Amino acid sequence: ARIRRYKWEVKYEYKSPDCFQKMVITINGQSPGPTILAEEGDTVIVELTNGLLTENVAIHWHGIRQIGTPWFDGTEGVTQCPILPGETFTYEYKVDRPGTYLYHAHYGMQREAGLYGSIRVSVARGKTEPFSYDYDRSIILSDWYHNTTYEQVLGLSSIPFDWIGEPQSLLIQGKGRYNCSLVSSPYVCNATSPQCSPYVLTVVPGKTYRLRVSSLTSLSALSFQIEGHNMTVVEADGHFVEPFVIKNLFIYSGETYSVLVKADQDPSRNYWVTTSVVSRNNTVTPPGLAIFNYYPNHPKKSPPTVPPAGPLWDDVEPRINQSRAIKAHHDYVFPPPLTSDRVILMLNTQNEINGYRKWSVNNVSFNLPHTPYLIALKENISGVFDPTPAPDYFDLENYDIYTKPNNSNATSSNSIYRLKFNTIVDIILQNANTMVVKNSETHPWHLHGHDFWVLGYGEGTFNMSSDPRTYNLINPIMKNTAPVHPYGWTALRFRSNNPGAWAFHCHIESHFYMGMGVVFEEGVERVGKLPSSIMGCGKSKGLRGRP
Ligand code: C2O
Ligand code: CU
Repeated sequence: ARIRRYKWEVKYEYKSPDCFQKMVITINGQSPGPTILAEEGDTVIVELTNGLLTENVAIHWHGIRQIGTPWFDGTEGVTQCPILPGETFTYEYKVDRPGTYLYHAHYGMQREAGLYGSIRVSVARGKTEPFSYDYDRSIILSDWYHNTTYEQVLGLSSIPFDWIGEPQSLLIQGKGRYNCSLVSSPYVCNATSPQCSPYVLTVVPGKTYRLRVSSLTSLSALSFQIEGHNMTVVEADGHFVEPFVIKNLFIYSGETYSVLVKADQDPSRNYWVTTSVVSRNNTVTPPGLAIFNYYPNHPKKSPPTVPPAGPLWDDVEPRINQSRAIKAHHDYVFPPPLTSDRVILMLNTQNEINGYRKWSVNNVSFNLPHTPYLIALKENISGVFDPTPAPDYFDLENYDIYTKPNNSNATSSNSIYRLKFNTIVDIILQNANTMVVKNSETHPWHLHGHDFWVLGYGEGTFNMSSDPRTYNLINPIMKNTAPVHPYGWTALRFRSNNPGAWAFHCHIESHFYMGMGVVFEEGVERVGKLPSSIMGCGKSKGLRGRP
């Protein structure tokens, strides 16, 4: 195993990823930031200098479990204090498993400003993967807003509530296109800027490409497709998938997939790569476009066709079908325990609390304390968070998921779930109607520090006695992010065997900001000595610089 060392400078720069000039957070001048390349078993060291001048930062290594290093998970308020302007902070962790992962800001809604990138971990030498390919490429999909993070946060935390709206464009590997004719001065929009020329994926005819497609959208659920080409899904969130063929890939924020694509079409032309919004009735965001360029055609040559339209936004069935089709590869099945020790039901609702619009789990909207949980728990600092346990249960029998909620009991809290170490925990995510009549959204839930088994997806209200009988206990996929579909439920199972404090939240940036998340504590007494570099804020002030 080797050490992979990176030195990063994080700062704001003016960039035009979709031709419209905006303040973008870059790493060493780039957004997306540099790709971390490593091999299974390697140690990654990132020495990060916060050059944002007037803003804190923290970076989360999405999909990396941080076994033995829970303090380097990078989740501000949960595992560390924020990194102050001018400070240098060193993350050090092991990448113990091959696969496709991500990194991104985990401080406020900072990810929206472009602070993200990919982590690609290859299999250890001598080990193989259950598929083959000639070339390996990474593509991150994201959605892009022209408003700054500050404007978004202000709107979301105002009365009356000012929703961020739909994104102005979709980016493929950091490149998109906004219609500059919609922009009036004093804004700068330059349709001929090379920064917003479409992303080009050059392929050699006859070769097979592994595309690592991931999504770090702020809001949007996406469909991704390559004109005229099928894709074979082979990996999801670092786990090998029993291969299946699709024409379009549905992908939610926080998910990663590897698909194999063979360059087997007419090589005399180029093809469109497109991504479009699903799940929301979005009529304003144009599809994201990139070019699938057959060598030796000119990479900038537009395909001779109209970019193919994506699937209908409100057709939920193919999306549920794809979710259900993802199973563990037959040679890599890690069967789940057949029973669990604890079942936590999580009803997802939108609420209004003291006039503020919120998202809640079991009518509790989550907020972060000023001292990170990991430090408070490990160092026994009291008065940091509400010690009342977060609720495990909601009386679904007397709740109509199809009506607009009445929020008489909703509260805000920073209480957490304390899990018995090394036990089996089931999470049932139950979706419901939002505060808009006849509307339910898709929420991709992401768990830090673990992978979970995806036991099943269903429609309607979860039935405690009959639905568990439909669980896949034979070959479920393990993932770290899974959607709960509109008016549906999703059942997950995991083992609480990673000592630490871990966030579990909707990966939609604004939803987490509005309270759609929880924190799990497990085995905190087994956590090693915390590095003092993570301390200094709130009640951990005196611990900073401790030897
Ligand atoms: Cu990728 Cu807590 O997030
Ligand atoms: Cu959500």
